[in-house]
Amino acid sequence: MKSMVLFLLGLMVPVAATAATEDARRVQSAEIVERFQETLGQRLKQALTAGGPVAAIAVCQREAPAIAARLSAETGARVGRTALRVRNPANQPDADARAVLERFDQAIRAGVERPPESFEVMRDGQARYLKAIVTQPICLNCHGATVDPQVEQALARHYPDDQARGYAAGDLRGAFFVHWPASRGGD
Ligand code: HEC
Repeated sequence: MKSMVLFLLGLMVPVAATAATEDARRVQSAEIVERFQETLGQRLKQALTAGGPVAAIAVCQREAPAIAARLSAETGARVGRTALRVRNPANQPDADARAVLERFDQAIRAGVERPPESFEVMRDGQARYLKAIVTQPICLNCHGATVDPQVEQALARHYPDDQARGYAAGDLRGAFFVHWPASRGGD
């Protein structure tokens, strides 16, 4: 019996240490995503007010990747946005992210109150955080089923393979992701 207890303790110590590192990355991920969402949301609103949706397309096109690149450089994680149906093919999810997005979609359809999040640590110590992005009324300017014909034209010019249309407010639009490299697991 005694040896059993010791055996269990031996197992628990490294698990606890790993969990602490995981929690730090999880908390930091949520902060990064909050900054991303806030900065982009402000820029989008400014652009829509100042120049309307056609002009704001350029902001989404330039600013979203620029903010993501800045946060990535600052934190050492790979930060970005993805979705089940993408406007920019560069935002296509891999199989793991797609599975998480499918779960988010189901949760939102089932009526969860807050945007779902997910944090997974891979066997090699890489970690990935995703947080659902829910469609707001303002998003329908460019992601709704019907958009202004000028928006339609501008989108067709920049994104000939656009799949990110036909959303309604409350739908899952996509997710922010924060992907931590394995080397972070050791600190
Ligand atoms: C003025 C037009 C416009 C509005 C309004 C807009 N978007 Fe977008 N959205 C875009 C463009 C353009 C892209 C492609 C950006 C790129 O090239 O990376 C995009 C891409 C995205 C992506 C990345 C995945 C993909 O489809 O490539 C997400 C997620 C997204 N938008 C969510 C939103 C949400 C949520 C809102 C409302 C808060 C919103 N968008 C409002 C134009 C818009």
